[in-house]
Amino acid sequence: MKGFVPTPRKTVDAMVELLFRKRHPEPNDAVLDPGCGTGEFIDGIIRWCDRKRLALPRITGVESDPRHLPLLHSKYMRLRTVEIQHADFLTDGRTTYNFVVGNPPYVAITALSDSEKTRYRARYATARGRFDLYLLFFEQALRSLAPGGRLVFITPEKYVYVETAGPLRDLLARHHLEEIRFLQEDTFGDLVTYPTITVVRRAPPGRTRVRRRDGSLATVTLPSGGKPWLPLLEGSAPQQTAVTLGDLCLRISCGVATGADSVFIQPVESLDPELRRFAYPTIAGRQLTPTTTELLQHFAMLIPYSADGQLLPLEELGAFGRYLMRDDVRQQLLARTCVRRKPWYAFHETPLLREILRPKILCKDITSTPRFWVDRLAQFVPRHSVYYIVPRKPDDIDVIAGYLESPSARRWLAQNCQRASKGFVRLQSHVLKRLPLPDHVAAEAAEGSVIHAADVPSRHTDSACRG
Ligand SMILES: C[S@@+](CC[C@H](N)C(=O)[O-])C[C@H]1O[C@@H](n2cnc3c(N)ncnc32)[C@H](O)[C@@H]1O
Repeated sequence: MKGFVPTPRKTVDAMVELLFRKRHPEPNDAVLDPGCGTGEFIDGIIRWCDRKRLALPRITGVESDPRHLPLLHSKYMRLRTVEIQHADFLTDGRTTYNFVVGNPPYVAITALSDSEKTRYRARYATARGRFDLYLLFFEQALRSLAPGGRLVFITPEKYVYVETAGPLRDLLARHHLEEIRFLQEDTFGDLVTYPTITVVRRAPPGRTRVRRRDGSLATVTLPSGGKPWLPLLEGSAPQQTAVTLGDLCLRISCGVATGADSVFIQPVESLDPELRRFAYPTIAGRQLTPTTTELLQHFAMLIPYSADGQLLPLEELGAFGRYLMRDDVRQQLLARTCVRRKPWYAFHETPLLREILRPKILCKDITSTPRFWVDRLAQFVPRHSVYYIVPRKPDDIDVIAGYLESPSARRWLAQNCQRASKGFVRLQSHVLKRLPLPDHVAAEAAEGSVIHAADVPSRHTDSACRG
């Protein structure tokens, strides 16, 4: 079932209350529940009207999954004011409604077919980058709203800060976004979505009331233009600085994905001396813990590539080539889907050693508290659970690493990074690149960002891997 997650009754009732708080529905009003599932919101509207002893408005539930239809039809067949439409909300529909309420599907782009992606991209301004269906539901729901009408949706909070949701923020800020209410993480039981209720009125922009997860309240004016809202919603003014981490760095990327770590990653201790020529110290996210003070060379990555990312011919790999050709190893490598269109012993992604083997700062991709480690000697090839940050000028490394560990950088990252479960955050390169640097950090960092060969130290020869 595409994105089916029923909304708990308590949350439904709170949302229906928000929907009708400022204007009670009249019998001629039209209310829409797009992606109505098993009718939780329709039931909520009926309960609300019963409690207030009001006649039901006209209610339309739209659902694309035929498996919900028998239940929906049997529940509402006696109610003339409830209509169930078996339709795709994102394709059909020209009717307008006075009220829209619901819990749209959270379906990532990876779960959509190519034709769906093409169709949605052509029709929706919010179908940008790696979009999620709930962003499109917002857009379509706003289109379906009559002037003065009100929309109440529960969705993941991510739309207030992720880059992909910029067009939606831009669109919402053109209306009166009346309230954003951050709900507790356990609203949907074990399914951690960081849910948020958004109340929008189809009216010119006005002030927005914010109810935060800690219970505190604020009133803000949302910026136009799709900028992330989280710093504003969480109560810290956005930092105004012209220089970002991306400006001072040559590269901010995720580490190397071999596609077969069991073949290419080996303990340094038991490394065949004949393989050392191709072995580079490597580090995984799980080796970076709060107690890690020194980067240890416990594991090596065997890399069949030249410094500029050319896959070396097998015959040039010597003992490494013979190891790769071993029946069990070769079979394992051939079983990878990522090599269908490339040589069988290639990595999942080409490692650009020339850029990786520079003095750099390392951090885990998912963490409760962002921490940073310096690979001053340019020795390590980070694995794909580690991000690496290469300053343009190696001399800047300490000032940048120092700032990354500061409370203000931590606060910014907590506010701008995507959240994973259990309070963890994801440090992604596009977010790290946007980290604003205060003037003193930018000033301390040397001017002129040209890389000279002399800035890049030659490989440290005291390594446990390549001799
Ligand atoms: C998160 S569930 C919410 C169900 C219900 N509104 C509730 O809150 O309990 C989203 C629903 O949207 C439906 N859905 C997904 N894509 C749809 C589409 N394009 N048009 C209509 N319904 C859709 C799913 O089948 C699912 O029932």
